[in-house]
Amino acid sequence: MQELTFTADRLLLFGATGDLSQRMLLPSLCALHADNLLDPNLRIVATARSEMSTKEFRDFARKALEKYLPKNRRGPMADFLNRLSYVPVDATTPEGYDELAREVGEYNGLAIFLSTAPSLFEPTIAGLERVGLTRGNARIALEKPLGTDLGSSCEINDAVAKAFTEDRIFRIDHYLGKETVQNLLALRFANILLEPVWNSNYIEHVQISVAETVGLESRVAYYDDSGALRDMVQNHILQLLALVAMEPPTSFDATAVRDEKVKVLRALRPIKANEVVTGQYRAGAVDGKSVPGYDEELGKDSDTETYVAVKAHVDNWRWRGVPFYLRHGKRMPRRVTEIVVQFRCIPHSIFEGRGAKTEPNRLVIEIQPKENIQLSMMAKVPGLGSDGLRLRPVPLDIAMPDAFSDVVRRIAYERLLLDLIHGDQTLFVRRDEVEAQWDWIDHIRALWAENEIKPKTYAAGTWGPSAAVALAERDGVTWHDD
Ligand code: BG6
Repeated sequence: MQELTFTADRLLLFGATGDLSQRMLLPSLCALHADNLLDPNLRIVATARSEMSTKEFRDFARKALEKYLPKNRRGPMADFLNRLSYVPVDATTPEGYDELAREVGEYNGLAIFLSTAPSLFEPTIAGLERVGLTRGNARIALEKPLGTDLGSSCEINDAVAKAFTEDRIFRIDHYLGKETVQNLLALRFANILLEPVWNSNYIEHVQISVAETVGLESRVAYYDDSGALRDMVQNHILQLLALVAMEPPTSFDATAVRDEKVKVLRALRPIKANEVVTGQYRAGAVDGKSVPGYDEELGKDSDTETYVAVKAHVDNWRWRGVPFYLRHGKRMPRRVTEIVVQFRCIPHSIFEGRGAKTEPNRLVIEIQPKENIQLSMMAKVPGLGSDGLRLRPVPLDIAMPDAFSDVVRRIAYERLLLDLIHGDQTLFVRRDEVEAQWDWIDHIRALWAENEIKPKTYAAGTWGPSAAVALAERDGVTWHDD
């Protein structure tokens, strides 16, 4: 497949007044500008439904930057704001696109970012096509949710494919923009130590947890239709799993990396009813503050899950018999995203006769809020051992902020926007990946429907329903909660 080479000199931002734009996209672009990472010729054309002049939009953007971008990352904000112009467009009607095309003008490379509801993708693309903004090397980035199941995802993908070839479609999973997620690739493929033991001979199980302290926030309609499985597992958690489980790609490029990820996603075994637990939070306390239950926040009863735990398997040679315990929940006791790789016990302990116990090694990759990689190793407790020899696990720590204290921590969207502008698809999700993800998720949802499985309750501020603890415990596994 031909790689795109033109760096975009126009960025067209749909949904420019929305929440994502204010909190992530505008701050990321401004930070890139401040670090001289944007080409001086890049102009950003913002659009949304609201009637606003360019001047008003620049004021709006400035407020967002003051609110969401730390002062030390803003740089010369006025210069950045000068890159912005604004054209109001109601994406559902054909009007407005001519004006948009005039504002975009002649370009060498065009990057389009749709931060809008997926229901607007089709009319937006039709509008863009009509005024010639899909031609040449124009490329398009799409924010989730890309459908609600495999069928609707295919419909979206088909609609986009009418105007853009796959090498010009950039599907965003913002977890791939996170530094520590990319570091997972470095950890696995830039070190010789791990690869020989990265398989079922040495790994007993893997845990992937994404715990959040927030609840429904202001996303009532979206979240209640979506639920934890589709909101977080279908995309972010499955992408993390693919990175942990994939074979070494031949190079760090879009085709090689994504070819390996999709093989893992296709090898996911359909799960059984007793391999999944769902939950919904009730009133409780998080960080010492009382918080209402999901149903109270929503204002009605609902069967939407805010927690899900799954025992998954990757059916291939490398991972035969290794369970991947995945879980995600809202209103958990603390915010943490981490991957735990639990190694097997040593085959024979020479220390047993001296009364010393050994524990299997464990690798904990904390992705957020701290960026930390910790490998527990057995070591001898110092002493003469008159009462026997003692061993204890001690952590080998790579605290990323310490190792790289002089390097700026970037917003995930900085990486993704820059790659979009440069046309590098490595950290974007290919169509076959999204569809393999949906296929596996649809099967779980069908199982819930067939078995009339409803979420169990858990108190906000706890680690989810007790059945989720049991899901792991019955295999002798404890969730890594400390
Ligand atoms: C989004 C989900 O994709 O990711 C949200 O829709 C979730 O529900 C968010 O809160 C979590 O992202 P992060 O980067 O804060 O872990």
